[in-house]
Amino acid sequence: MKKIGNLEIENPFILAPMEAVNCASFRLLCKRRGAGLVFTDMIDADIFMKSVIENGEKSTLLKYVNPQQDERPLCIQIGGGKIETLVETCKIISKHCDMIDFNIGCPLGYMLGKKGGVYLMKHPNMLEKIVRELRSNISLPFSVKMRSGWDEGNVNALEIALMLEKLGVDAITIHGRTRKQMYRERADWVLARKIKDSVSIPVILSGDVTNTYMANRAFQHTKCDFLMIARGAMNNPSIFTYLNDDFQKVELEKPENTYMKVKKDVCRDFEEFLKLYREREVRYKFGELQDHALWSVRESKNVSLLKQEILKAKKEEELIRIVNKSLF
Ligand SMILES: Cc1cc2nc3c(=O)[nH]c(=O)nc-3n(C[C@H](O)[C@H](O)[C@H](O)COP(=O)(O)O)c2cc1C
Repeated sequence: MKKIGNLEIENPFILAPMEAVNCASFRLLCKRRGAGLVFTDMIDADIFMKSVIENGEKSTLLKYVNPQQDERPLCIQIGGGKIETLVETCKIISKHCDMIDFNIGCPLGYMLGKKGGVYLMKHPNMLEKIVRELRSNISLPFSVKMRSGWDEGNVNALEIALMLEKLGVDAITIHGRTRKQMYRERADWVLARKIKDSVSIPVILSGDVTNTYMANRAFQHTKCDFLMIARGAMNNPSIFTYLNDDFQKVELEKPENTYMKVKKDVCRDFEEFLKLYREREVRYKFGELQDHALWSVRESKNVSLLKQEILKAKKEEELIRIVNKSLF
């Protein structure tokens, strides 16, 4: 059992924040499969507070978070560049989660335009002001998720991590790619190790932990306290079950021992996701279900055929039938 602040987390595998993926049903499915902590996707504090003013707190919270009691512990991620809306958002969400994360790794233009996301890594003075204010207003465990820096000439994650620790942040997530790299090249695990060796608060590693072998390598190389899984879970929520199982085993050194996605899990996960989606979501968008079906069959040998069929499908039963045709 590891801790972030005073929050006890059952295992070191965390569902990463993923926009347009991490609806309540998906988070809950990952929790059921063994995630120790689940993140929401990033809530833009300006949009959130505008909606609170227009539609009230309850419906805004349902629309942007839809928290579920059985997914706890839950971390809600926020983003933005304006202190007031960030603080107001935190006051509201604090009542519905166990931890708050501030995203300073978002490379998207709209977020940079509002002086949020990775823009703040380039402007540490502004970052310091915001984090100081957030820290004094958040009583829950509070973490910050960052990239390695703005671009290859401005890799400053280590300096930022030291500053955040001094400001009283409870944990840091490092996704070792710059804004410019987006998702290209390998995530910089050497940088993650340097950060881990330099701070005393827990460090969460994000980037390229896509299977049990990589998870083992990641722990060995970086010594990080937690591993965060994004694309590996998006394609395959059952990865958490295998990460937990393998974690207990000794023979993890060999890549051939890596758990590979199997059809049985994929079909079961997809059907359970559909059920949760019907039961827990406050909206129904068939397109979202198609997206999840597409992610499920990624890496299937007949993926291009399945993809065409998924895009033509009109009913949930059709999606189930198509996912059942996947070949791994
Ligand atoms: C579809 C998608 C959406 C994402 N949305 C967010 C987000 O809302 N907030 C965030 O901090 N990172 C976001 N990320 C980045 C991931 O959390 C993670 O840092 C990155 O994908 C590297 O991890 P991986 O190799 O496990 O995919 C997103 C990634 C993907 C693939």
